[in-house]
Amino acid sequence: MTILILGATSAIAQAYARRRAGEGARFVLAGRRQDRLAAIAADLIACGAAAADPFVVDLTAIDGIEETARALRARFGEFDEALIAYGLLGEQVVSEQDPHAARVMFDTNFTSAALWALALLKDRPAAVPFTLVAIGSVAGDRGRASNFIYGAAKGALDRLLEGLAQKYGGSPVRIITIKPGFVDTPMTAGIPKGGPLWATPDAVAADIARAVAKGRRVVYTPWFWRPIMLIIRHLPWFVFKRLKI
Ligand SMILES: NC(=O)c1ccc[n+]([C@@H]2O[C@H](COP(=O)([O-])OP(=O)(O)OC[C@H]3O[C@@H](n4cnc5c(N)ncnc54)[C@H](OP(=O)(O)O)[C@@H]3O)[C@@H](O)[C@H]2O)c1
Repeated sequence: MTILILGATSAIAQAYARRRAGEGARFVLAGRRQDRLAAIAADLIACGAAAADPFVVDLTAIDGIEETARALRARFGEFDEALIAYGLLGEQVVSEQDPHAARVMFDTNFTSAALWALALLKDRPAAVPFTLVAIGSVAGDRGRASNFIYGAAKGALDRLLEGLAQKYGGSPVRIITIKPGFVDTPMTAGIPKGGPLWATPDAVAADIARAVAKGRRVVYTPWFWRPIMLIIRHLPWFVFKRLKI
C-alpha cells in the first residue's frame, strides 16, 4: 500500500499518516519544507511505516503539476491512495482588496488541487484500484460574507470531485471528499478556540481513515457538520442574508 500525501506537513495529514503507518503503509510525503518532511518521515517510520520518502515540491506551481505527477509515478510506481491535504485559509479582508492574494487563494485551494486530481487519475490502468481523498471544507457548502473566497475555492473543488466520482462510478477508483468544520491546527492559529464545534486533527484523521476503509463519497467531520450544513444550505435567502456568519 503506497500512499501519496500532497501537503504532508498539514496537521490533519500527519495525524492521518500516523494512523495508516501502523498498517505498514509506504508513504511519499510531498510538500515545500524539507526539514519538516524529513522529521515527519522519521516519525512515520517509528510508527510502523514500511517507507516514508520526502518529496520537496511547490504543489501550487500550476504549470509543473502534470510533469511532477508523471515523475512521482515513474519514481515510486502507481499509488494505491493519494491525499490532497494542503490548503490556505488566508485573510478574506486582504483577498477581497488584493487580486494577487485572491489568486493565491484560488490557485492553492482549487486550481492546483484540481490539476493534481486530474494528473493523478490520468492514464491510470482502469482495473487498478485507487483512492483519491481530498480535504475540502464545510466552507464550500455555501458562500458566506466572512470567507467566500476560501469557500468558493473549496466549493469548486467539491464540484470537481463530485464529477470525477460520477465518472469513475462502477470502477475500482474511489473519490472521497472530506469536509471538516473547525479543526485545531496551525491553519486556525489566529482564531479563538474552544467549544463543542472544535475538533482535533486526530478526530478528523480517524474519520478520514473510516471513510477510506468504507469507500465513502462525502464525509463531514465531525459528523454533526452534516446536519448543520444541511440546514445552512437550505435556509431561504431572506433568512440567510441576515445571518452574521
Ligand atoms: N483547520 C481547519 O479548521 C480546517 C477546516 C476545514 C478544512 N481544512 C482543510 O484541511 C486541510 C489541512 O489543513 P490543516 O488544518 O491540517 O492546516 P495546517 O496544519 O496549517 O496545514 C496546511 C498545509 O497546507 C500547506 N500549504 C499552505 N499554503 C501552501 C502553499 N501556498 N503551497 C503549498 N502548501 C501550502 C502547508 O504547508 P507548509 O507546512 O509548508 O506551510 C501545510 O502542509 C486544508 O486543505 C484545509 O483547507 C482545515
